[in-house]
Formats: sequence, C-alpha cells, structure tokens
Amino acid sequence: MSKVAITDYTFPDLSIETQILEAAGLEVISGQCKTQQDLIMLTANADYVITQFAPVDVDVIKAMSNCKVIVRYGIGYDNVDCEAAKEKGIPVCNIPTYCIDEVADHTLSFILSMTRQLLANAKYVQNGKWGLGTDLSNMRGLYDSTVGIIGLGRIGQAVAKRLKGFGCQLIAYDPVVNPTQVASTGCQLVDLDYLLSNSDVITLHCPSLPATKNIINNSTLSKMKKGGLLINAGRGDLVCADALLEALATGHLAGVAMDVFSTEPVPIDSPLLDMDNVLITSHIASASPQSAKMLRETAAQIVVISAKGESLPNVVNSL
Ligand code: NAI
Repeated sequence: MSKVAITDYTFPDLSIETQILEAAGLEVISGQCKTQQDLIMLTANADYVITQFAPVDVDVIKAMSNCKVIVRYGIGYDNVDCEAAKEKGIPVCNIPTYCIDEVADHTLSFILSMTRQLLANAKYVQNGKWGLGTDLSNMRGLYDSTVGIIGLGRIGQAVAKRLKGFGCQLIAYDPVVNPTQVASTGCQLVDLDYLLSNSDVITLHCPSLPATKNIINNSTLSKMKKGGLLINAGRGDLVCADALLEALATGHLAGVAMDVFSTEPVPIDSPLLDMDNVLITSHIASASPQSAKMLRETAAQIVVISAKGESLPNVVNSL
C-alpha cells in the first residue's frame, strides 16, 4: 500500500486527512519531526509527503526514494527546498487560498491594537487605574495615517480592502504585481524608499524569498518615520531581529506586532517578550475552524489527485 508521510502538524489529530487518504487506498504514517534525522526516517520511503513547519531541506529531499509530491499545509512554502525538489522531479504544492480573510483580519486587529494602544490601556485598568494608560500622543487615528503594505498579493489586497473603510492613505510596494490588477484596492503603488519614509504603519505581506529576507533591516528601518509602527504577519525572516530590537530600544519604532519569527517558538529569554510596545501571537493568524478544515482537506485531496495520476493544482516549483 502506498504511504503518505505527514511530517508534523498543529491539529489535535489527523482524522480529516486519514479519512480522505484511506478512502483512496493510501496508508498514513505520521510524526512530529523536529530534526533532519526524524524527517529522513519518516519520508525516505514514503510515496507522498505532507508537511507543515518541519524543514524539508536538500538532504531530506535527496533521501526520498519514492516521493511523487510534497504538499505544504499552508501558503508560504519556505520550509521546503523547492529547488532541490525540482532537481529530483518532485512537485511541491501549496494551498494558496485557505486563510486570506483570517490573516487579513488578524492584521487589522494588530494595526488597531497598536494605533489605539489596547495593550497599555487594558493593562492600566487591570492595575486598578482609570483613564488613559499611555501618553495622549500615542493614541492615533487611522483616518489621518498612511499605511504602507509590502506585498500586495491576496492577503495584502484583503488588508487594503479592509483598511479602505478607515479613511487612511494606502500605499504599497510590490515589484511583481500587475498594477492593473490592484487598481481597485485603493493603493498607490510606490517604490520601497517612498513607502518607508511616508508610512505611519508598515505591514508585511510578501513571501520569504532571497529578495525579501531581511527587507526590514538597519538601513530600511532608518528610513522609516520616527515613531512608526511595524506589523508582521508574513514571515519572521523578513525582519532582521537585531535591527528590530535596536529600533525599538532607541524609540525610532514606536511598536511592533508580530505573528511570525525567524525562530519559532520565540525563545523564552527573548527581550521582545518583556517589551510593553510589542504585541506577539504565535503564528496563528491563519487560524479558524473553517480555514483549518479547508487546509487539511485540500492537502489530502492533492495527494489523492497525485495518486490518481491527474494534473496537480498549485505547483510552486515549476514542474
Ligand atoms: P501572494 O503570493 O498572493 O502574494 C504575495 C505578494 O508578494 C505578491 O503580490 C508578490 O508579487 C509580492 N512580492 C513578491 N516579491 C516581492 C518583493 N520583493 N517585494 C514586495 N512584494 C513582493 O501570497 P499571500 O497569500 O498574499 O501570502 C503572503 C505571505 O503571507 C505568504 O507567502 C506567507 O509567507 C504569509 N502567510 C502567513 C500566514 C500566517 O499564519 N501568519 C498565513 C498565510 C500566509
């Protein structure tokens, strides 16, 4: 019987996947792989691989002897070495449409929490006080702010659509998107320097790519307005961690809200965890019962499509 290896998952069980895969005559083997060795042990002889966050690197892929498809449970696929898979003739598929509204909603909640200082104000009341829990100058209105969106794809556009209702100026940097396709978003496409120096809030929605890794670094942070806010629900490695800490320490950045980190979980001794102007969630922006169901069903269905020898959807490594 052909084997489907599920390398790691954050769901309570694999019942949804197992039902679909077993009905197609496939056997599920699974783990919570953390190391390269774990991954090689589980996937070397598997016919199909589904992965969530585990690093499916070049050595793991080289050790695969039968794999016909690698499916990423998610939109971003930066934990899979797609080039190595391509060299081995293994298509990599993602699930590009499963949580657009959830991540956009999460981003809006980050932006509003930061501009309305919800953390500081709620803490003030919890401590038995009443009134403004922060300096009046920190209480901002979106109506007179400029929000800069880096990456105007599905999620960036969904964020823009929501922000339109708040009356803010919307600008975006995306060197790849077709300008005619984003005309209805209300965003003015600008270059990166313009976006950095004119935005009160910057929100990151580009993929992790060689061109975007550390796109927020010492140099780009220095071009941001003093007192700017940064939101990251994209990928942790879009932001240089040391540069971010420095910009927060000097007050150049007024605050940051993040769902994603270069190292996940965030180390318990990270200075970020002790900062009052830092709002952190644990890579859960995509979460909702609906999105999780769609993600899991689609991942399993892509494997079934592959098993039937039919044409695969969402191949991200040009195979
Ligand atoms: P998408 O592929 O629809 O949009 C990405 C956009 O980034 C495209 O318009 C592309 O042209 C643009 N882009 C490419 N290179 C760029 C560059 N050098 N600078 C600026 N923009 C560039 O993807 P989608 O669905 O909007 O997702 C974006 C990212 O969000 C994903 O790649 C993933 O990393 C992240 N994500 C995070 C989640 C979370 O749980 N926090 C959940 C889902 C996605």
